[in-house]
Parts: sequence; structure tokens; C-alpha cells
Amino acid sequence: MDEYIVAGGRRLSGVCTAQGSKNSSLPILAASLLADGETVLHNCPALSDVDATVKILAHLGCRTKREGHTLTVDPADAAGQEIPDGLMREMRSSVIFLGAVLARTGRVRLSTPGGCEIGLRPIDLHLDGIRKLGAQVTDAAGFIECSAPEGLRGARITLSFPSVGATENLMIAAATARGNTQIVNAAREPEISDLADFLNAMGARVSGAGEGTVLIEGVPALRRTEHTVIPDRIAAGTFLAAAAITGGSVELRGLIPAHLGPVIDVFEQTGCTVAVTSGSVRLRAPRRLRAVRTVRTMPYPGFPTDIQAPVTAALTLAGGTSVVIETIFESRFKYIGELVRFGAKIRADGRMAVVQGVDALYAANAVTPDLRGGAALTLAALAAEGESRISEIRHIRRGYEDFDGVLRGLGADIRTAGPESGGQ
Ligand code: EPZ
Repeated sequence: MDEYIVAGGRRLSGVCTAQGSKNSSLPILAASLLADGETVLHNCPALSDVDATVKILAHLGCRTKREGHTLTVDPADAAGQEIPDGLMREMRSSVIFLGAVLARTGRVRLSTPGGCEIGLRPIDLHLDGIRKLGAQVTDAAGFIECSAPEGLRGARITLSFPSVGATENLMIAAATARGNTQIVNAAREPEISDLADFLNAMGARVSGAGEGTVLIEGVPALRRTEHTVIPDRIAAGTFLAAAAITGGSVELRGLIPAHLGPVIDVFEQTGCTVAVTSGSVRLRAPRRLRAVRTVRTMPYPGFPTDIQAPVTAALTLAGGTSVVIETIFESRFKYIGELVRFGAKIRADGRMAVVQGVDALYAANAVTPDLRGGAALTLAALAAEGESRISEIRHIRRGYEDFDGVLRGLGADIRTAGPESGGQ
């Protein structure tokens, strides 16, 4: 399969523009099933996870069209109620279709999403909430079936953990339920607010998104709409980490700096200077990064788990020892086994990684274990003197649009090789 070939040791510099948010596009595309007409979605990133989501929409009977970063979805003939195992395996976050298909057709059947590289990924919070909305749920023999022939009814749902996916599924399912729904201890990520904005543009009545409790007043129908997806704060943070690890100076444009608050704070603790304007963030790295006593991943507005790996990679070159605590997923340190091939000194034990900074990294060959771990390994290769190879980059293409192209635009010497590469 494809791999990156990286000639490291070059400082990144220049300007790049943030892609549209993957984790906002996916739930919004699922929710487009509820419209009584066409959804036009702008700033939709070109990613394999988005392609997989479009495949599911088509399987359910939607007509879809992509023109550049604009996706159009027409659900007029969408009568499908089942998501086949193959499509579920292609992208486990397809569980986000559960609420939308159930609300649209009164029934949904999908294979149990199962785990992935970063954890078991249970969906008990999704299913408990869907039951509270009046659906019958059977979860057995590898399949989940939900039915609500008389439709869904509003309820008060308290999440034991502010699950992003569960909050999204329940918002979507509740939008056309009879009566009001309250989601207590809801996730507060910017992608939740973007989904609420999209639903409200369709005529839903969602309030409180981005705060601890989301209120959804059910409405009988949702109409066609046009929406622009928010910038991808995780991709943006990854490119800032690329500037930090290479001692460079990079400006990210077209993003919402407030979405990167805790990430900017950590970069400033490492000695980077970060200049923020209304739509851009410029990071200048010091000659050598300082270690950070503790980086702890938390639900938003805490430090995002999706930027843990890229920041940990940058900390491998810091002067001193940093501690990284991953509180969200149980096995999100897999990439560390590959990172040490570059000469990094890291000990990972359960949810904690102790990073002892080294003076330099050296080129290595590494295998990408998952999306964000792959980005972290690529960042290490950018900083390491010599030629490195990063294989299994299909994981990276799930969440970063033209990752190597953006890095090349910032001065990196990186190209892809392999059967699918355009020989860049
Ligand atoms: C979303 O995943 C994102 N994915 C993840 O991004 C992100 O890391 C995560 O939120 C946290 O911010 C998309 O939006 C497509 P959760 P999600 O439900 O919804 C536990 C990336 O790299 N949990 O908030 O699956 C779960 O096991 C991806 O872009 C339950 O126990 O995250 C985990 O420990 C990776 N029961 C924690 O909650 C449930 O029913 C957070 O999961 C659901 C979740």
C-alpha cells in the first residue's frame, strides 16, 4: 500500500488554510437524511471517511453529488433501513446514522460497530438514549436493531459521559420526535454546535448546544438547507504541531482560534509564540521546545484527545520530561511503539506516557497504526535527519485532506509512493 517518503530536518514555514471539519461533516451528512429536500453542504473535506459516509447515504437511497468541497444530498428516495456490515467496517463512526435512519423510517439495523485501533468504542450511551426516546432496541448476535413504529417521543436523557457521538445521535433522533428532549451532560465540542446550527437551519429547535445541557423541541418536519462546515480544529492543531517539531513558523488561516484554546496554551507552555487573529493562528517555534509538566486529554473545552499524538511527537524533542495522560480512549498510545524507532525516549504505561526529550530524532521506517498516530509519526519524520518511510498511510487519508501536499506547501520534502499515489 502507499507510503510517505520524507527527507527530514527542514524547518516548516509559510501559510496554509484549515480544511473543513471531518468530525462535523459526518454527523451533518447523516442528519441530511431528515430533510424533505436537498442539503447543500459547503467546505466538506475530501477524505476517505467522508467518501464512506457518502457511500452509506447512497446505499440508503440518497442521490449525492460532489463538486469540489460542496456536497449535495437529496434523500427523496431514501427508504433504506439497514447499513451492511461491509460499510460499517469501512468506518465504525457510521453508528452516527443510527438516529437519522430511525427518525426517518421508524427502523434501523446495523452491525455492531465494534472496536477500532484506539479502543473498544462501546455505544451503550447511544442505545440507552434511543430507548429513552421510545425505541425498541435489540443488541444481539453482532447486530443492533432499533424500531419505533409509532415514532419517537421526547425525553430527559442524562449521559454518564459527555459522549460526542451519543450527543449527536440523540440530537438528530430528537429533532423530529414528539415533544421536548433534554440531553444532560451533553458533549460540548464545536462539532456539536455546528450540528445544532445545521439542524436549526433545517427548521429544528435546538438550544444550549456547546453547553452542558442541550434542549431539543421536536418539530414535525425538517426542510432543505445549505450549510458551511466549520474548520477542522484537529487538522489545524496538527499543522501547528508540525511547525513546533521542526522549529518552524507557520500560519494557519480560515480557522476559529477559540476552538484551539487549550492546544494554543500547551504550545505556549513549550515556548512557542502564538499570534491569534479573528481567523488565523501563527506559531513560531523556539530553537528548542520546553517540556510540559502534564498534558491531559479531556472532553471539550479541555485538551482534545485527537491532538494528543501530534503534540506528544513534538514533545519528544523538548528539553526536559513531559507527562501525557490520555483520559478519553484506552489504547491511544499505539503509535508510541513506532515513535521510539526515531530515537524518541517514551515510556507508555496504561493511560500515561512519560516523554523524556532528546536532542535529535533520526530517520526510521514506521507503520501507521491509526489516523492521528500516523500524523504523529509523519511529524517525527519531518524532524528527523535523513530519509524516513511511513507506511499504511490510508489511515491518514481518513482525516487529513492532502496531508503531504499541505506539508510540501510549507517546505517539507515529502512524497507518496505506492500503487495509489499520484507519484507526488
Ligand atoms: C468522536 O468520537 C470523534 N469522532 C473522535 O475523533 C474523538 O476522538 C471523540 O469524539 C472524542 O472527542 C467523530 O466525531 C467521527 P465519544 P466518538 O463517544 O463519538 C466512551 C478522530 O481521530 N463511550 O465522545 O466515538 C468511549 O469508549 C476521531 O477524528 C462509551 O463508553 O467519541 C470513549 O472512551 C477518533 N459509551 C469516550 O466515551 C458510548 O456509548 C469518548 O467517546 C460512547 C462512548
